[in-house]
Formats: sequence, structure tokens, C-alpha cells
Amino acid sequence: MNKKISLIWAEAYHKDGKIGAIGYKGKIPWYIPEDLKHFSDLTKGGTVIMGRKTWDSLPENVRPLPNRKNIILTNHPENIKNHNVLALSSLKEAISRSNTENIWIIGGEKIYKAATKYASDAYITRVRKKVVADTSAPKLSFFWKQVSKSDWMLSRNGEQYCFYKYSKIKVPINFGKIISSIEDTYIKHNIAFLSRKRKITFDTYISYGTQNKIRLLGRAILASSKQNPNELRRGFRTLAAAQVPKIDVHAAIDGKPLAKTLKTDRGGYIDEYVNLELSVGRHQVEFWADDSTYKSKGDLLIIDKSTKYGIISDIDDTIIITKIPSIFLAIYNSLFLRPEKRQAVYGMKRLFETLNEKFFNPAFFYVSTSPWNVFKTVKNFIKANNFPYSPFILRDFGPTGDKIYLSGREHKMNAIQQIFGDFPETQWILIGDDGQIDPSIYRDITDLYPEKIKAIIIRRLTGTELFLNHIIPVSFEAPFIEKVSYKSIPIIAANDGYKLRQLVENILNS
Ligand SMILES: NC(=O)c1ccc[n+]([C@@H]2O[C@H](COP(=O)([O-])OP(=O)(O)OC[C@H]3O[C@@H](n4cnc5c(N)ncnc54)[C@H](OP(=O)(O)O)[C@@H]3O)[C@@H](O)[C@H]2O)c1
Repeated sequence: MNKKISLIWAEAYHKDGKIGAIGYKGKIPWYIPEDLKHFSDLTKGGTVIMGRKTWDSLPENVRPLPNRKNIILTNHPENIKNHNVLALSSLKEAISRSNTENIWIIGGEKIYKAATKYASDAYITRVRKKVVADTSAPKLSFFWKQVSKSDWMLSRNGEQYCFYKYSKIKVPINFGKIISSIEDTYIKHNIAFLSRKRKITFDTYISYGTQNKIRLLGRAILASSKQNPNELRRGFRTLAAAQVPKIDVHAAIDGKPLAKTLKTDRGGYIDEYVNLELSVGRHQVEFWADDSTYKSKGDLLIIDKSTKYGIISDIDDTIIITKIPSIFLAIYNSLFLRPEKRQAVYGMKRLFETLNEKFFNPAFFYVSTSPWNVFKTVKNFIKANNFPYSPFILRDFGPTGDKIYLSGREHKMNAIQQIFGDFPETQWILIGDDGQIDPSIYRDITDLYPEKIKAIIIRRLTGTELFLNHIIPVSFEAPFIEKVSYKSIPIIAANDGYKLRQLVENILNS
């Protein structure tokens, strides 16, 4: 069945005159019966997908919305007691389980923002009115074009309103797909050629999980039969590692083989969840391919799922000094990185120790736009400098199947949201620097999940570092970092870890 996904919302003007106000304190701040009928006529017979807060805002007598399949997104599906609706914790799953031709994304702000990339059309009612609002409609990108607009109409209760329809332009050539298929063909031939002299081994990243669910992370690559697979590769070989896509992978935890067989994706990566009961602490994971006697060993860290606090930290320029434009980082890290030679950002280790103490041994993750190819070298840097030994989420630099490559912003947004989903009860401290995209990503994440953010900590780069990063000695995000708080969440910014630590202590003690 061909599914059509549409966004539908009504928007008025914020008090400052900007369009896009959709809600206030859990309600829509206007009432236009004609628009409700328009909404009902359009969505009947389809599936409506909504956030839990929008579900809560519906009057009892229309819950679930009649003649439509109702799906509610929540991190706690077990709390939705209504048996006539489907409560799920993943938007992708909601879309795949909608068994109607038309799928309607009906809000609120969080769901619109998450679903815009999947939608082809947007039905927008514009209301000519200024309101106080705390939630906004998503901003439609350049690829969205207005295809129709009704005349302005007068509601029977005096409000003026008008219907718009926007559609996303279809890009006729999908360059991502073309490049992906060229890469697939190249890899197929490359592997056929290389496998005569090489064996399948695995890069084992630091897998993680909670007491009943683990996320296994690794990558299948072809290594020379003479090379010890665990030894650190540096230089061009790290970037040119021949990945082994779409193969079966066997895994064992603490020596016990898993019943489930894993599979590598088209980049050779293993990234799979498995339900398993394990105690909090460090465990061992092993991966091996069919017919292989060699098992690649790595670590699996089990983190208490009810941990109250967690830290997500960037790497380059946040804990490692790079002084290098971001576009060259991957090459630099791979070619020149000797862990013992890299310089750690002054005082960051002390900042982490303080946070560790004050937040009672929080969960810790490194989320960076660096490629997975540099995992081993960065891991060695972390160990050599006594930074927390914790899971990393790095980036696959190759084409994604339908995109030429995943942008750093998309990668970080996805990675952070996935970690949030893994620890639904945890509040997070986001740590980054103002050299690249961290402040704007952390602001977007805060817009989406203010309740999940405890603090934002930003290391300010020096003028020289900023200049080397993007050829101007000024941070793009200066106005955001100057704020002391955003949505009541403290923003702590300073040049080094010692100053940041002092500011953190001041805030915690005040
Ligand atoms: N003007 C309009 O057309 C219109 C339409 C709809 C809504 N609204 C207004 O918008 C406001 C509500 O918007 P909102 O952004 O605050 O809330 P929302 O999007 O309706 O719901 C947010 C909740 O949905 C769940 N959720 C969000 N993303 C999720 C994901 N990726 N996976 C799993 N669960 C997810 C979480 O529920 P849990 O907390 O349970 O985990 C989250 O707290 C209200 O004022 C409402 O009246 C206006």
C-alpha cells in the first residue's frame, strides 16, 4: 500500500508577530468550529498520529478521535490505558503500523518536528490573531512550496481564518541512491579481491545497555591475515578500511553465545538491540563471522536504567584540542593522531570528576561527528588522559542509501534522541564547544525535550581556535552562549574545564 503522510495544524501569530503559534498550556488558544470540521473531513478514514500531550488535551468525548485509527507516541506506552488506541514509543514504528493509505500527523510541536522529514504535504489553517503560546509549528524548509490557498473566511464566532496546502518538492534524481549503489558495487568487487588475502574481523566499539536491553556496536572489516585485529591502525588504512556489508554476525556476552544472529548494514556496521538480563557494570562482548575461528573482543557497559542523571559530551575541541577546521578533522584524526601526543582541553578531566561526584556517578556518552574510523585512537586518548571510559556514538561517513551522507547535525540529533529513548527516566547534561554546531543542536534538543535537560555546558574556544575552525574569530552561537539560561535550563560557558567546574559548583551551591 502506498502511504501518504501529511502534517495538519492550525497556527496563529505569536505576540511578537511571528507566525506559528499552535498551543498554550496544553490547549489550542482559539476555537474555530469550521476548522475542526475541516480537520475532521480531511482526516476521517485515515490514521492520526499524535504526541501524548496532544492526546491528553483532547476532550474525553472525542477520545479516541472517531472513524480514525489513533496512535499515540509516548515513552511510556504502558500508561495509556485506553484499549481503543495504539500507544507506541517510536515514530517510525507508528508509521509502519498505520494500515491506512492516509497518515495524518496531528501534533503537537514535538511530533510535527520529528515527522516533517517523512511528510509529503502540510495542511495549515492560518488564524488572523495574536496569541500567547508556548508551542510552535515546525518551520518548513526551502523544499516545501505552497500549492493552494483559500480566501480568508470569517468563522461564526468572529475569527478570521484561511486554509493553505504545502507540498514537498520531489527531487527527481536521488544522488544519495546513485552514490550508494556505486559504493555497493565497488565494495562488492573490492571484497571479492581483498578477501583472497584477508580475513573478516571486527572493530568492537563500546556497546552499552541497561539491565534488560543491550545495544551492540561494531563493524566488520577485512584485515590482513598477518595483522593482529586488536592493534591500533593509524594512517590512511583507518579511512580505507574495507567494510564487509550484509553478513551474519554471531555474538557472545561473557562467553555465552546469543541466540540471535546479528547482521551488518551496508557500511559493515553492527548496531542492534537485543533483550538480555545483565547486571550493572562491565561485561565482555565477542563478535565472529560464519566459519571464522577468530573472535573480536570488546566491552559492553551496563548502566542502571533508572539512573537519574547522564552526561552527553562532544569530543573534538571539547576534550581534545584540535585547532583545525572541522572539514579536515576526520583526515587529521586518522592520519596524525597519536593518542599520547594529543593535548586535552585544560581542566576538562576535573570538570568530569566534579560532575561525577555531584550527580552521583551519572551515565556518560561521547557523541561526536568524527567518523567511526578514529574510534580506537580516540579511545586510547580517553584512556591515556583518564577521561570517563564510556560508550561512543560516532558517525558513518558513507552514503546512507538515500542520502549522499548524513550531516553532522542530523547525526548528533538522532544519536542524542536515541540515547534519550534508551534511558527514559534520565535527565541529561549536554557538553560541547562553540566551535561548531553544538550550541544550536543543544538548543534544538532543549526545544524538543526541555524536561530531559539538566544543564548545557559549553567550552568557549579561544579566538585562535575559532579562527582556525571557521576563519572568523567569533563564535556563530555567541548570542545563545551569552544567555545564563534557556527555558529555565542553565547554560554554563567558559574557556576551560577549571572555569566551567567553578561555575558548575557556584550554581549547584546557590
Ligand atoms: N494548533 C494545532 O493545530 C495543534 C495541534 C496539536 C497540538 N497542539 C498543541 O500543541 C501542544 C502540545 O505539543 P507538545 O509539543 O507540548 O506535545 P506533544 O507533541 O503533543 O506530545 C509530546 C509527548 O509525546 C511523546 N513523544 C514525543 N516525541 C516522541 C518520540 N519521538 N517517541 C516517543 N514519544 C514521543 C512524549 O510523551 P511522554 O511524555 O508520555 O513520554 C512527549 O512528552 C498543546 O498545547 C496542544 O494543544 C496544537
